[in-house]
Amino acid sequence: MISKKLEEAINYQINRELYSEYYYLSMASYFNSVGLSGFENFFLIQVEEERFHAMKLYRFLNEKGGRVNLQAIEAPKTVFKSALEVFELAYEHEKLVSQLINDLMDLAIKENDHAAKNHLNWFVEEQVEEEASMETTLNKLNLIGGEGHGLLMLDSELAQRVFTPPAK
Ligand code: FEO
Repeated sequence: MISKKLEEAINYQINRELYSEYYYLSMASYFNSVGLSGFENFFLIQVEEERFHAMKLYRFLNEKGGRVNLQAIEAPKTVFKSALEVFELAYEHEKLVSQLINDLMDLAIKENDHAAKNHLNWFVEEQVEEEASMETTLNKLNLIGGEGHGLLMLDSELAQRVFTPPAK
């Protein structure tokens, strides 16, 4: 069983993970439109990561006897100026998601739900990686001034990213 409050909060987090998927797909589409296929690949892999996060919460809520109630996903931003802007936004977005996970953990602690706390620990650690992944590329973009030969080198590097599903 699970408390109504926690059920609602996990449903909200599922919505935010699906929004993240949508947001990053919009960023992938931007990079496709400017011919940076490595950057596009980076965000297409990120899309898969976000779907994985949403589904992990989906499975957990169902196993706990809760009900997944899907809500509307708002339209993401579709117009971007540069790779630098995209990574600034993506890094800010991951910091926001970390805050949401922290809030969810606070609620699980308040509700004394040990199973939820255990499950959310995975997300707490995952968010450290998520922020670091965006920050690393943002730092490199700042180093190269966001353009020129360095941008193409970074594009080749990001083309190597593959999706490795984490252990469930
Ligand atoms: Fe699901 Fe990128 O956090």
